[in-house]
Amino acid sequence: MSEDFVLELEHIRKEYPGVVALKDVTLQLRRGEILGLIGENGAGKSTLIKCCSGAVIPTSGKIKINGKEFDRMTPQLAAENGIAIIYQEFNNVKELSAAENMFLGRPIRKGITIDRKAMEEEAAKAFEQLHIKINPKELVKNLTVGYQQMIEIAKAIQQNAQVLIMDEPSAPLTNNEVESMFQVVELLRKKGVSIIYISHRLEEIFRLSDRIEVIRDGEYVDTLITPEATVDQLIRMMVGREMTQKFPPRPCCVDESKVVLELRDVCGNGDKNMSFKIHAGEVLGLGGLVGAGRTELAQVIFGAKPKESGQILLNGKEINPKSPREAIDLGIAMLPEDRKRHGALLGVSIKNNINMPIYKRISKASVIDLGTEKNNAEKFREEIQIKCPTINQLVKNLSGGNQQKVILGKWLAADSQLIIFDEPTRGIDVGAKYEIYKLINDLVAQGRAVLMISSEMEELIGMSDRIIVLAERQMIGELQKEEFNPDTIMTMASAIVDQAQKEVS
Ligand SMILES: Nc1ncnc2c1ncn2[C@@H]1O[C@H](COP(=O)(O)OP(=O)(O)OP(=O)(O)O)[C@@H](O)[C@H]1O
Ligand SMILES: [Mg+2]
Repeated sequence: MSEDFVLELEHIRKEYPGVVALKDVTLQLRRGEILGLIGENGAGKSTLIKCCSGAVIPTSGKIKINGKEFDRMTPQLAAENGIAIIYQEFNNVKELSAAENMFLGRPIRKGITIDRKAMEEEAAKAFEQLHIKINPKELVKNLTVGYQQMIEIAKAIQQNAQVLIMDEPSAPLTNNEVESMFQVVELLRKKGVSIIYISHRLEEIFRLSDRIEVIRDGEYVDTLITPEATVDQLIRMMVGREMTQKFPPRPCCVDESKVVLELRDVCGNGDKNMSFKIHAGEVLGLGGLVGAGRTELAQVIFGAKPKESGQILLNGKEINPKSPREAIDLGIAMLPEDRKRHGALLGVSIKNNINMPIYKRISKASVIDLGTEKNNAEKFREEIQIKCPTINQLVKNLSGGNQQKVILGKWLAADSQLIIFDEPTRGIDVGAKYEIYKLINDLVAQGRAVLMISSEMEELIGMSDRIIVLAERQMIGELQKEEFNPDTIMTMASAIVDQAQKEVS
């Protein structure tokens, strides 16, 4: 063997009923490197890395760890051989402490009792090694997602993992949390841990990785050396075609004579004095830092949180939705940020999920029009490219990104006047991002109004007709298209925060 590989996957194939998730994929991880693994939603990334941990048993193919071949990987074997994975949806127990989560399933014992003190000491040691400040006694439910992820990483360190596999670790994190996570990843690299890093954000892949492997439709495409690769080349390899534009062109279709949504001095859910209008055919972008109060505002408009004062008008009429159900009936839809918790019903089919908000409309005397139900689901499956064998597939069997597309389809089907998108393309691959932007364009071309919350500056600027910036639960200002500029937006977003800091110092 000429090269020093810690982990090798050879000719991996994985079939599910009706789907070949992996056709013939090879992956080689060099000792001490960070390998970026990229591919579109449903390409097979998560399935591939689950084969390494024994969470998925490949139909055929070989797995080698340190040159030793395993016929059958099991979670226990993987752990014993130094493989640790942080899954896309990590599984922790919210009611237990940080330390208890770290030793979940393998507690330290003293005789027949569990030695809580020893576990807390070990956890503290692992946190210290990673320079992270978590109290081992703290309940996981009181920690941010960023810290919850750190516990998972610390667990890998405590188990002396040689290989750490991270499946879209940045997706649930805020920008600051991502920065801390990068620092921990760099630290691990220095310690000699080999890492597989999956992400849809190419800038992260460029920043962290030594080499990049691309897979498409369950097939191996190529592995490139990071400094030699370019963004365009990687996109072409992932998507299988040239993509020249990031944002589809949209002729201005704002109809200033028709105000779809108007907020007059709305306070609620922690937000203060929100006043603005959204016109028919307009995409109003809502910018700001995490914690600025953007999602909170959306929740008030959508009836998920109570309004304390002020007025909300839809098409000139005052509304007071007391629940999302009422808001939906009034013609408001919302694609929430936390799609796992508020989004799809995982145990039911794509078809049922997409039609969920409109069953009332497509039924007569409680009998569902099955033809419309099917056509509707097929239409969205095609439009937003939901990768699935049939629309009867259960949502839980879809890849992470495709689950998000189902939720998107569900809200689009609802045929609403106002659609609120909260981080519409988080965790979605480049090709599908473009499709979602096209859909937003279609919605406004039909005269609907869109409120789009986005933390991606490029997306905010690329898609909005107008931008309102919030900071610390207040409106800071409004920008017209010709005033769009990342620096201006960032300055506005941090305005009050700076002032507060000045006052402290
Ligand atoms: N348990 C399952 N049953 C049936 N099909 C499955 C199952 N798990 C995964 N698949 C299918 O295998 C394919 C690959 O899915 P996978 O989750 O590996 O994609 P991915 O590259 O991780 O995508 P994403 O970027 O969206 O997370 C998808 O078409 C998915 O629907
Ligand atoms: Mg995945």
